[in-house]
Amino acid sequence: MAKELIRLADCSMAFDDEVVLDNINLYINDKEFLTLLGPSGCGKTTTLRIIGGFLKPTSGDIFFDGVRTNDVPPHKRAVNTIFQKYALFTHLNVFDNVAFGLRLQRHDGKKLSKTEINERVTEMLEVVSLKGFEKRDVSLLSGGQQQRVAIARALVNKPKVLLLDEPLGALDMRLRKDMQNELKQIQQATGITFIYVTHDQEEALAMSDTIVVMEGGVIQQIGTPEDIYNEPKNAFVADFIGESNIVDGIMHSDGVVEIFGRKFKCLDKGFDHKEPVDVVIRPEDVDIVTPRSGKLTGTVTSITFRGVMYDIIVDFHGFKWLIQTTDLCPVGTQIGIKIDPDGIHIMKKGTFSGMYGDYSSYSDEYDEIGDADYEPESESVEEYSG
Ligand SMILES: Nc1ncnc2c1ncn2[C@@H]1O[C@H](COP(=O)(O)OP(=O)(O)OP(=O)(O)O)[C@@H](O)[C@H]1O
Ligand SMILES: [Mg+2]
Repeated sequence: MAKELIRLADCSMAFDDEVVLDNINLYINDKEFLTLLGPSGCGKTTTLRIIGGFLKPTSGDIFFDGVRTNDVPPHKRAVNTIFQKYALFTHLNVFDNVAFGLRLQRHDGKKLSKTEINERVTEMLEVVSLKGFEKRDVSLLSGGQQQRVAIARALVNKPKVLLLDEPLGALDMRLRKDMQNELKQIQQATGITFIYVTHDQEEALAMSDTIVVMEGGVIQQIGTPEDIYNEPKNAFVADFIGESNIVDGIMHSDGVVEIFGRKFKCLDKGFDHKEPVDVVIRPEDVDIVTPRSGKLTGTVTSITFRGVMYDIIVDFHGFKWLIQTTDLCPVGTQIGIKIDPDGIHIMKKGTFSGMYGDYSSYSDEYDEIGDADYEPESESVEEYSG
């Protein structure tokens, strides 16, 4: 059974009069890899700083192992932090950077022995694959190697919890992916609880046991990567995690939703009869068929080659969807579509309804380039006929 380690209860944070965290409730289990995910300014770093003890919440409480710790300073919490700008000591070599914290430790007034420091630093450098780098000057290491020194320096203190604020932000894509795998392996090997901050949804999906999606200082959803991707709670989450077409629908009964005047089978239940809903359809869940056998028919307005697949934009009576397909469908093709029941996800209407999930603007520029007959005014509405 998972054991709860940290809890934020009704935590709010205001700077001057600006509320930047609004009633955060969250628990983190022992040995969990939990990620705070959201766009810039949503409150991720603030939440991390409250957990680390660098900030006191304006209201609400934080508990470690069930004990209220609002007033416990950072160095008395079983927590270590890797900040985005991991300042290594440039005048020290790799070994001394990692050993730095251990040399400061005192137990009953006694320093750690040289042998113990040696053993622990060596062990940690092995964990982060930097064995043999002990004497290297840190300023001559690559970004990824420096990052690993920063990780070793934090882990060598054997924290119960490691806080990581966008630790891979400075690395290029390839290195980032390698480091994601390494971090995940280190976390599993050491059993340290990781609380990780990123605004990169792919990174969050790849690494986390649990993802906390935040926006505007509010937690929008907490769940496993699969939950968050397959069952987003609202249009913000659906849009932020991967690509989503989000269209208006009307629930007719359990398992039946109307989209653009046509009824589709779905798996969702428990909505009112004729309740207006938001319907999420992922680009990879749409099957392209002939116009005759499609539930809906539309016209391809743009196509972009993505390597494994094509991204196509399809106009359904003025609403544009993104669809991913391995079939080549040139601009101007009329296609039909089908969607399996498990490719349709229904959400309650809410504050984010209508704000996301429409690919019209995405395709406009392609329209103009790709369609010789394109006239900006040709989509004007029918004349009012009384
Ligand atoms: N010390 C402070 N004084 C005033 N406002 C602050 C302070 N720290 C953070 N804020 C504000 O709180 C909000 C949340 O900031 P926070 O740093 O937590 O965002 P974030 O999610 O980490 O964003 P990013 O991805 O850009 O790092 C922002 O609007 C920020 O300007
Ligand atoms: Mg931040």
